[in-house]
Amino acid sequence: MSRQRFYVTTPIYYPNDKLHIGHTYTTVAADSLARYHRLRGHDTWFLTGTDEHGLNLQRAAAQAGKEPLEYIDPIVEWIQHLWKRLHISYDDFIRTTEERHKRRVQQIFQKLYDQGDIYKGTYRGLYCVRCEAYYSEDELAEGNLCPIHQRPVEWLEEESYFFRLSKYGEPLLAHIEANPDFVRPESRRNEVISFIRQGLEDLSVSRTSFSWGIPVPFDPKHVIYVWVDALANYATALGYPDGDLYRRFWPADLHLIGKDILRFHAIIWPAILLALGEPLPRCVYGHGWLLIDGGKIGKSRAGSQVIDPLTLIDRYGVDVVRYFLVREVPFGADGTYSEESLVRRLNSDLANDLGNLVWRTTAMIERFCGGLIPDPSGAPATDLAQVAAEVRRRVEQHMDRFELNLAVAAVWDLIGRANKLVDEAAPWELNRRGEHARLGRVLYDVAEAARFAAVLLAPFLVETPERIYDQLGYDEDLRAVGWDAGLTWGRLPVGTRVRRGEPLFPRVDVESLFAGGDGAGEGSAGGQGGSAGGEASGQEPAAGAAPEITIEEFARLDLRVVRILEAEPVPGADRLLKLKVSLGSGGERQVVAGIARHYQPEDLVGRQAVLVANLKPARIRGVESQGMLLAAADDGRVVLVAPEQAVNPGSKVR
Ligand code: MSP
Repeated sequence: MSRQRFYVTTPIYYPNDKLHIGHTYTTVAADSLARYHRLRGHDTWFLTGTDEHGLNLQRAAAQAGKEPLEYIDPIVEWIQHLWKRLHISYDDFIRTTEERHKRRVQQIFQKLYDQGDIYKGTYRGLYCVRCEAYYSEDELAEGNLCPIHQRPVEWLEEESYFFRLSKYGEPLLAHIEANPDFVRPESRRNEVISFIRQGLEDLSVSRTSFSWGIPVPFDPKHVIYVWVDALANYATALGYPDGDLYRRFWPADLHLIGKDILRFHAIIWPAILLALGEPLPRCVYGHGWLLIDGGKIGKSRAGSQVIDPLTLIDRYGVDVVRYFLVREVPFGADGTYSEESLVRRLNSDLANDLGNLVWRTTAMIERFCGGLIPDPSGAPATDLAQVAAEVRRRVEQHMDRFELNLAVAAVWDLIGRANKLVDEAAPWELNRRGEHARLGRVLYDVAEAARFAAVLLAPFLVETPERIYDQLGYDEDLRAVGWDAGLTWGRLPVGTRVRRGEPLFPRVDVESLFAGGDGAGEGSAGGQGGSAGGEASGQEPAAGAAPEITIEEFARLDLRVVRILEAEPVPGADRLLKLKVSLGSGGERQVVAGIARHYQPEDLVGRQAVLVANLKPARIRGVESQGMLLAAADDGRVVLVAPEQAVNPGSKVR
């Protein structure tokens, strides 16, 4: 029997803007599906990339006074950095400006032309450069605006090549009707069917009004319509028509997209494939939108700062962001994003339920079992093994139907049941009464339930499953072991020594976070008093003399690793140096540090240090200081604090 395989794609992203939290939604969902199939041992391929041609980009580059690629390259780098921070496990990243893509798109165009599916004509119409699409008048929003972008459309008239889309309406309809899973969810399938039934017109597939695109091979004053160019990536990246990967993975199992680009994926692309005689993808899934304040993300000025995914990752950690995205929105429907709902999910699901389960389980094993996973065999099983098996089955069913939020929610039934069992069985009472056999059974089953939850969550979360294993003291690579073996009840070895660590998810105080401010940036920790990082008072409080603070209070500090880019003395201030430091993608800061008697400026350049990044800026001797570097003061010496190994500038210190 051949191995099951799974080829999943995201849309390729436009590099004309910073991606926001809504964009990350498609990619985190696709990544979770890819990780799930890999865990199950399926032959998996996950593709993403960037869509780099078209008038829009040509104009943006010209406005910036740059060549298109010079303009695009750093944005693509930024996108790849974002995916890295989100642990997106793509197997390939395709850029439509790559030779491997351009060559094959030309090959496709040529074939369609040679067989008569592309012909020459004239196009006249209203065009939105943002969509790179023509609209008929009745499709426009009020005021003759683009219905998607609410921007004016432009009148274009040009000689154009056309694709005989009209010829493929009927065969496509037949395919959709014979394959109920081809367009998902059901509402989108109905939308596509009724659109095709109205009749398809031939599609203009070349442009002469600008040059930033792939030239039509037999008529190079035309460039190929950017959507035809972009859609083909799903095949060109695999080496269409005869590459090994193409043979191995085509047709795609899933094109995961937002609902705004459904018609391109469920009509134009399949029609091109039909014309090429290639098999159609098994499923085009159009998910809903993540909205903010009832509108599209990215339209809201006020929200734009808060919904930068990198800021959220820095503030809450990658798994909190990933968890929120897959859990909050019923997959397929629209959902609302707010930082407050993210924090509530963090506090209730992650800190209270999951974090607490692991925390109390390891604490009780330490207290009652000498820190070793106890032997359960002396007492009858609890119901947890059965609940775990049932939950696993539900997770699998939901994943097969791409119901990500339901799959994740199912895991919480196991977590909830395990927490409840602890409350009901009251291990502290069992211990007091000397019922050690039952105590061992309860604590073993609860620990095993936590381990099960770690494996079940491994498609969605990228750090937490490993941290749970680590706290249980279990040194097994859960991703290598995979789904079936990992989900064998009783795998956790008796006698393993637990390693209690930090709580998995510190709670965030919602009230203080949202009272009047814009979140964690509000209110710096303690007064700065004017001296940045140096010999301020000369008197250090004795260790332990400072008043106790809570973890939430500590969490208000935004400590970041920085790289020192420049250092120079501050004229007239013999203790101070003015430094320029880099926070990586978080930009640069100027900081004044009282370390001039301890460091030569040139010795500092290139070093890493730790910055209190959310300290209220202050002027020191007339020079602005945007934060403070941490330094250890030891008997007259001042020594900068730095990470033990080099890390990416901007990394959080906690
Ligand atoms: N370049 C085209 C796709 C070409 S595919 C051959 C494109 N790029 S995009 O950058 O504008 O959007 C990429 C993806 O992000 C799309 O699936 C889009 O639906 C999704 N989203 C953008 N904003 C979104 C939300 N607010 N919510 C959910 N998904 C959103 O389209």
